[in-house]
Amino acid sequence: MTAAIDTLAVRDLTKIFRIKTGGFRQSDLKAVDGVDISISPGRTLAVVGESGSGKTTLARLILRLLEPTRGTVLLEDVDITGMEGAALEEKRARMQIVFQDPYDSLSPWQTVGRTVAEPLLLHQNLSKQQAAEPVAAMLERVGLSPEHARRYPHELSGGQAQRVGIARAMITNPALVVLDEPTSSLDMSVQSQILLLLQSLQEERNISYLFISHDLTVVRYIAHDLAVMYLGKVVEAGPAARIFASPRHPYTEALLKAAPRPDPAHKTEHVYLVGEQPSALDRAPGCPLYGRCPIAEDVCADTPQELADIGAGRRVACWKRT
Ligand SMILES: Nc1ncnc2c1ncn2[C@@H]1O[C@H](COP(=O)(O)OP(=O)(O)OP(=O)(O)O)[C@@H](O)[C@H]1O
Ligand code: SF4
Ligand SMILES: [Mg+2]
Repeated sequence: MTAAIDTLAVRDLTKIFRIKTGGFRQSDLKAVDGVDISISPGRTLAVVGESGSGKTTLARLILRLLEPTRGTVLLEDVDITGMEGAALEEKRARMQIVFQDPYDSLSPWQTVGRTVAEPLLLHQNLSKQQAAEPVAAMLERVGLSPEHARRYPHELSGGQAQRVGIARAMITNPALVVLDEPTSSLDMSVQSQILLLLQSLQEERNISYLFISHDLTVVRYIAHDLAVMYLGKVVEAGPAARIFASPRHPYTEALLKAAPRPDPAHKTEHVYLVGEQPSALDRAPGCPLYGRCPIAEDVCADTPQELADIGAGRRVACWKRT
């Protein structure tokens, strides 16, 4: 029996931005640093981490909206890193994105019908007439009615607008959908409806999700696998349930301790890491958490930490926890 091909396999993916740091001086900012992740068909990998840890940059690299400094992206076993022209267009139809703010991501001048049809017109060369039927069916599938096709974004509620964003992402039947904080701008009750919709679409179509979120309650609910990012690096990865039950990296422990629990009797703790996340510019040569880590030792300051396999599908980048 042959092993199933991963929908996504990312190897050593790195993005360094050259940025001005005053006068004529320039510095390198490693936004994404040697990331290795993969997602199997029908699974959700959640990427979590503080603001500025590189989550959106990672997503943009995967979708080829940004060119990497180094590394490869395999989509369904095909290296799309250097791909261009018609071959890339074909792959673009297999990977789509749903953004955080649905109103921002929809053109105010375009009807819902035109927005949802666009990927079909662009990637599959369908005419507007040919696209009308699949668009109507897709709108119904995401909980809207074909009548919504004639409306403009300002005539929709936040939840309806996000359903349009999801319809646009799903219309080309993608293998991978990146969801960058897809529910964080919505009311709680709407959030859960959207999460249920995403789950049912995943089950029906065997789609892989790369789910970016700050909200660990949502991640706990939706993720099969988890990758925890800190200053551009993945510091812990593996099956979500195992990591939630027993985090190994001190940064993961801190994130989970600071997050609200579903159990209201469990008091949320905020104090664990020392200080703020440092600038991605002034990176120490050793472990990125050195300086904030409560169990650090001197050796951590200049010993780089790579992800190491600790069994049960888990990887951790901390010599004290492997
Ligand atoms: N185009 C760019 N040019 C220079 N630096 C950038 C650029 N895009 C992102 N960065 C920097 O890269 C780092 C990672 O940013 P990114 O937006 O990927 O973080 P994030 O984890 O998505 O944060 P958030 O949770 O706030 O969305 C940050 O330090 C950011 O300032
Ligand atoms: S390597 Fe050292 S500083 Fe880094 S997380 Fe482990 S103990 Fe903390
Ligand atoms: Mg982001």
